[in-house]
Amino acid sequence: MSTREIIISHLDVTAAKKAAAKAALDFLSSNMNIGVGSGTTVRYLISYLNKSALRNLKIVPTSLDTKIHLQNSLAKSSHQIIDLPQFDLDITIDGADSVNPEKQAIKGGGGALTREKLVRNSSIQFILIVDESKVVPALGNFPVAVEILPFGWRRTIELLKKFGAVSLRQGTKKLGPVISDNFGYIVDIKLFSSDLSPNEIHNLELQINEIPGVIENGIFGNPADRVIVGKFSGEITGY
Ligand code: 5RP
Repeated sequence: MSTREIIISHLDVTAAKKAAAKAALDFLSSNMNIGVGSGTTVRYLISYLNKSALRNLKIVPTSLDTKIHLQNSLAKSSHQIIDLPQFDLDITIDGADSVNPEKQAIKGGGGALTREKLVRNSSIQFILIVDESKVVPALGNFPVAVEILPFGWRRTIELLKKFGAVSLRQGTKKLGPVISDNFGYIVDIKLFSSDLSPNEIHNLELQINEIPGVIENGIFGNPADRVIVGKFSGEITGY
């Protein structure tokens, strides 16, 4: 691929992510309690939130990264950043690494999967915003991120090997393993099978969580309510 092609394709992905993020605003209204996911697509959502006419949102961030972006972007707004409350949120909007036609997803590329799933499971509605490259006929190709306890991590990895090839996610600059917001380690499982049925993906989510030492995994087998897909042309589609 030439440098020009790489630049163009980066611009296309950016346009697609921005389009999906902007379209998600249509699902929000002032005074809602909302969850905001993590990742680059969500960062565009945060900047659109800032420019929108929406007022008095109570916002639960799913990661420290998102919290910092919200604090920087919404400092002078009427919105409020809150911890996950005891009551249901109206809606959560999040990105994904891979999503199938049944609206199940693999998430956790950014390592925020545990809080993302907690917030998702606390929300009445869950909407995914993705660029078109994320939509696949079946899940299994993108590695499944799993957050594990640092205690006994070698043993946990050994037990996870029955699902595929497991690697401990490493930080940059050889500083050692990535440490999550919850002080866990993140491992990635390259699954043996790359085209799992909706039922298989749901079962896999449950089976991985049964392994001692596992905190949570990045399979979102409970389908989203809607997937907003940004196309490279900047148009949007959804299902
Ligand atoms: C983080 C996630 C993200 O939603 C996922 O990785 C997509 O990120 P991006 O919007 O940057 O493509 O699950 O844990």
